[in-house]
Amino acid sequence: MADWEILMTGPSLPIVAERLAAAATLHRLWEEQDPEKALARLAERIRVVVATGHSSRMDGAFLSRFPNLQLVSSFGVGYDHIDAAWAGQHGIIVTHTRGVLDAEVADTAMALALAAVRKLPQAERYLREGRWLEAPYPLTASLQGRTMGILGLGRIGREIARRAAAFGLEIVYHGRKAQDDAPYLYYPTLEGMAAACDILVVVAPGGAATRHIVNAEVLRALGPNGVLVNVARGTLVDEAALIEALKTNTILAAGLDVFENEPRVPEALLKLDNAVLLPHVGSASLRTRLAMANLTVDNALSWMAGTGPLTPVPETPWNK
Ligand code: 8YV
Repeated sequence: MADWEILMTGPSLPIVAERLAAAATLHRLWEEQDPEKALARLAERIRVVVATGHSSRMDGAFLSRFPNLQLVSSFGVGYDHIDAAWAGQHGIIVTHTRGVLDAEVADTAMALALAAVRKLPQAERYLREGRWLEAPYPLTASLQGRTMGILGLGRIGREIARRAAAFGLEIVYHGRKAQDDAPYLYYPTLEGMAAACDILVVVAPGGAATRHIVNAEVLRALGPNGVLVNVARGTLVDEAALIEALKTNTILAAGLDVFENEPRVPEALLKLDNAVLLPHVGSASLRTRLAMANLTVDNALSWMAGTGPLTPVPETPWNK
């Protein structure tokens, strides 16, 4: 594979660059003094691009700069930052790291649901501030007796459903279509599901098709006992409408791992006591990130070895 040249767009776990550099010539774009000049110099030789995070946007204009590009291996399951349809139409394969982070993200979703409903981070802050000495922490709402509505019953959604069932919750779901093998009630509209549940978990893909689908009407349908959990992409939720809904107690609480303009989080959200906020850590354990890193590399190595991509995205024109 000595004659393969790979471009990595940003830093990742050390093992990614180590393994790629051991197999091919690796160019680290973020270490270049002048990335534009480096791109112009290298573009023709690059056959594999390794995308290291959802913040490096790869639209058709960017991808078309590499006339010999064959594969984009992306770190992470969500690939809304890559124009995979454009890539597919131009014979470029895109891979992602599905299947190795489902349990971790599902764990985080359940933790966020519990934290938001039972106000656990707020209670922890209360203790640290010495206020327990003055009075017990106020009683909170409960997770028990609730119905969880899952927006996006994919791999991660199903893992969340399994966990929620073990917690004693009813499960319903909404997505583009009903799934024959899913033992949960399907709602053909998001608003309909929001009205029928009191925890709405967002775990559908980001991108233009799902932008702001959780809007003011959906939040109103979720109602004053409702809790919104988002472990997908910030773009699915109209953040301004969410802030308004939290401020006016149109919904009870929110647990958010993702935001519209990461890593910037609106001041108004930071001020709200009924929001639990995490810095996009859904998959961020060392164990899971290592598995994602290795799968990112394995996709590139398998392609270069002539054995095809391991986990291509559906838009990719790949026939084994
Ligand atoms: C990653 C994620 O941390 O997999 C995804 O889609 O959002 C996270 O697990 C992220 O892509 C890395 O930037």
